[in-house]
Amino acid sequence: MRTTRKVSVWPVGLVGGRRYERPVVENGKVVGWYTGWRADRPFAIDMAGFAVSLQVILSHPKAVFKRRGSQPGMQESDFLKQITTVEELEPKANNCTKVLVWHTRTEKVNLANEPKYHLDTVNIEV
Ligand SMILES: *[C@@H]1O[C@H](CO)[C@@H](O)[C@H](O)[C@H]1NC(C)=O
Repeated sequence: MRTTRKVSVWPVGLVGGRRYERPVVENGKVVGWYTGWRADRPFAIDMAGFAVSLQVILSHPKAVFKRRGSQPGMQESDFLKQITTVEELEPKANNCTKVLVWHTRTEKVNLANEPKYHLDTVNIEV
């Protein structure tokens, strides 16, 4: 997080109907999202999964993180698309291979959603 230049991302545990969600990284770039829920989101990431440089905030004075009014699960995408692009994201946590943060929740994780043999991902056109 400390080394974030603009906007950095990393996996989050116990979220998105899976044991974890994570940005899918190839050659050091985010190319898609591993998630159990609405993989079509522009940024399929939980709010615990990114950091934004204060410089980026200051240079986008009109950017807002809406408390209300976003579609369910779209709060992060609605915010991030105002200030960055998927191509620009900086993967942290060893190219998003480590879960270093997680949601706390009382809801049960639905393990039936877990893929058996491989990660199902959605590729983003870059
Ligand atoms: C992430 O992947 C890139 C490209 O494969 C590699 O150059 C870099 O060393 C990796 N970073 C870490 C922390 O493993």
